[in-house]
Amino acid sequence: MDSYPEEYTRRLDMRRIPRHVAVIMDGNGRWARSRMRERTEGHAEGVNSVNRITRLASDLGIKYLTLYAFSTENWLRPAGEVETLMHLIGWTIRKETPELKANNVHIRLLGEIDRLPPEVAGCLAHGVEETRGCDGLNLCLCLSYSSRWEITEAARKLAALAAEGQLKPEDISEETMSSHLATRGIPDPDLLIRTGGEQRISNFLLWQIAYSELYFTHVLWPDFDHEEFVKALEDYQHRERRFGKTSDQVRDDSPEPADN
Ligand code: IPE
Ligand code: IPE
Ligand code: MG
Repeated sequence: MDSYPEEYTRRLDMRRIPRHVAVIMDGNGRWARSRMRERTEGHAEGVNSVNRITRLASDLGIKYLTLYAFSTENWLRPAGEVETLMHLIGWTIRKETPELKANNVHIRLLGEIDRLPPEVAGCLAHGVEETRGCDGLNLCLCLSYSSRWEITEAARKLAALAAEGQLKPEDISEETMSSHLATRGIPDPDLLIRTGGEQRISNFLLWQIAYSELYFTHVLWPDFDHEEFVKALEDYQHRERRFGKTSDQVRDDSPEPADN
């Protein structure tokens, strides 16, 4: 193994590694255009970033890495770009599944997978099946995903249960809502990173990021390397998460863990 994890584990407080990091991987098109290349070449380069960040997240002991790979709105892009992206997604998953499995990574899918071309959905289903028993990093891939789609689906399911008499409206709680989202069973993100310079959420995990720490960087996704990821984690570790409480309360609630 490379020596990189040791360098990063020295720089980071390993007791405060976020459990769940979500990423809006933006800027592939601009990366390519600035090099006079096709946008699709930016997407291909972006796959290298996916591989290296997944590997580092796994090595650092992050339990959930959620990647926004294709939004519901991205179907509106030119057909050729959508086709290339779909091909890239299917091909990458097929190629990477053995290594992901060897690294104990569990692939999970969030989104309207039925809308993907059948051969791509097949590659994804194979990856999910192959890594089902893995209990290291959970790699959650958001494909044809949008938060409003997800929340609308949850509302529909809850309304159906209520109409069948299986659920009373007054029994609907935040937990009931959470357990009907695509992310059921997955803890909310601690840290949300967006690359590419935009400061917006673009219909991603709106319910789940209620208390996430947000980190925006101008670095384009294909340039997002180990160093940039560790910088984001360091930034996260310098924040105080108060969840509505005061600073004093937070400090009283969480004494420093003993060293021994
Ligand atoms: C993100 O990069 C990848 C996807 C949305 C699939 P973009 O393709 O949005 O790149 P920019 O924002 O045009 O540079
Ligand atoms: C967000 O990026 C979606 C993904 C990264 C998959 P976009 O590039 O599609 O976002 P907008 O449309 O510029 O907000
Ligand atoms: Mg973009």
